[in-house]
Amino acid sequence: MEVVITEGAEEIGEVVADAVARVLVGRPDPTLGLATGSSPLPVYRALIDRYRRGQVSFGAATAFLLDEYVGLPPDHPQSYRRFIQSEFTDHVDLPPDRLHGPDVDRPDLPEACRDYEHRIRSAGGIDLQLLGIGSDGHIGFNEPTSSLASRTRLKTLAPSTRADNARFFGPGDEVPLHVITQGLGAILEAGHLVLFAMGARKAMAVAAAVEGPVAAMCPASVLQLHQHATVVLDAGAAGELRLVDYYRDVYRHKPAWQTI
Ligand code: GLP
Repeated sequence: MEVVITEGAEEIGEVVADAVARVLVGRPDPTLGLATGSSPLPVYRALIDRYRRGQVSFGAATAFLLDEYVGLPPDHPQSYRRFIQSEFTDHVDLPPDRLHGPDVDRPDLPEACRDYEHRIRSAGGIDLQLLGIGSDGHIGFNEPTSSLASRTRLKTLAPSTRADNARFFGPGDEVPLHVITQGLGAILEAGHLVLFAMGARKAMAVAAAVEGPVAAMCPASVLQLHQHATVVLDAGAAGELRLVDYYRDVYRHKPAWQTI
């Protein structure tokens, strides 16, 4: 695992956008895994900016959401599909029919989960998966004690996650109890996992994920099992790491040809 400690949100956006841009130019049919929450916003801003400058195109790309709430009306601004459209894909040239999410309105949700994984496999798998991290160490909506081998499935959110995410919802508008999320085993199948975090609120979860044991109690620790995982942080989110000097030293001495 590589740990990159940056100056802040803007640099996180640029470092991760570089990795996304390499996938976009390097593959004929690039496939991106998109995350929601506030952490990916600097990345999406950087990518929109590069698109506007003509530096990248999403015209040949396909994108898959990591997770989705169950039970929200499809046009609800906090549905993850709406969120990703308004924060990112509406501003670039990704063909709208190539933005995929779990079909949470199907009566048979287990079938919708199987179908979602089938769509991902049919697209050739995900080349680069963007990941935030919850303050309890979740990725996607894989809450603590999620099986490290889990597939895409229905989950019930932890009260702490519902409380964290309530800030996005209006007064009287409840955070849904249920979600569909790609499982940890499914996430591990992506070619490159890029997790980013900002602020001291995430520091404990980041330290557990990077330097703690691989354990279902910290779902993000599953990144330790992946051969190409990159964690991009600001100083606040890196605040509980023990090997900060080592990570900075490795990044400073990275050979110019070696990208994240
Ligand atoms: C939600 C999403 C996660 C995200 C997390 C952190 O729970 N399902 O994918 O990583 O929020 O959100 P934020 O980046 O806003 O802290």
